[in-house]
Amino acid sequence: MSDQNVDKGKRGFLIGATGVVGGIAAAATALPFAGSMLPSERAKAAGAPVEVDISKLEPGEMKIVEWRGKPVWIVNRTKEMLEGITKSEANVSDPKSNEPLQPEYAKNEYRSIKPEIAVIEGVCSHLGCSPQFKSVEAKGEMGMEWNGGFFCPCHGSKFDFAGRVFAGSPAPVNLRVPPYKFVGDGKVIIGDDSKEA
Ligand code: FES
Repeated sequence: MSDQNVDKGKRGFLIGATGVVGGIAAAATALPFAGSMLPSERAKAAGAPVEVDISKLEPGEMKIVEWRGKPVWIVNRTKEMLEGITKSEANVSDPKSNEPLQPEYAKNEYRSIKPEIAVIEGVCSHLGCSPQFKSVEAKGEMGMEWNGGFFCPCHGSKFDFAGRVFAGSPAPVNLRVPPYKFVGDGKVIIGDDSKEA
C-alpha cells in the first residue's frame, strides 16, 4: 500500500502495526487451531478490536490498519484539511450524514469524535475498491472544486476528508465510520466503543 504515498511534501503514510486488544491475543495465537475453537471464540477473533498507537501520527499523515479484513484509515487532519471539509459542504450529497453509516457520536460535520482525527473505513461504498488519498494540491487533476479528500480510481468516486461522497459519484453513500474510542491521548481502539477503559 506504499503506492498510496501519492502526495509530495511531508504527508506520508504509515502502514500500522496493530496491537490486539485485551484477551484476544490468546485467541489470535490459537488461530491455526481455529477448527477446534468454539463458534463464539472464532467470531471474537475475526472481529477483534485493534488498538492503534497514534502518538507519532503527525498532522497531515495517514495510517492504515486492518480491522475485520478491511483497511481503516486514521488521518491526523490539518487545519487546512478541516477547512476543506467545510468548503466541500455544498458538493457532497449527504452533508449532515443522515445515512446511518457512522456511530451517533460521529454524526457531525467532521464525522469524528475529535475534529482532527479521522477514523474511516477505506472501502468505497460503490463496489468496494479502496480509494486513494488526494491532497488539496491535486486540484488540477481533481477539478477546481476539490478541497482534498479521497478518490476511488475504479469508477471515479470522490470523497472529502470526512469520507462524505461528492454528488454525482457512482458511490451512492458516504464511507463508513467504524465504532472506535480513544484511550488516553496516544491510542485509538477500532471496533470497540464501550465505556470501559
Ligand atoms: S468501487 Fe469506487 S467508484 Fe466504483
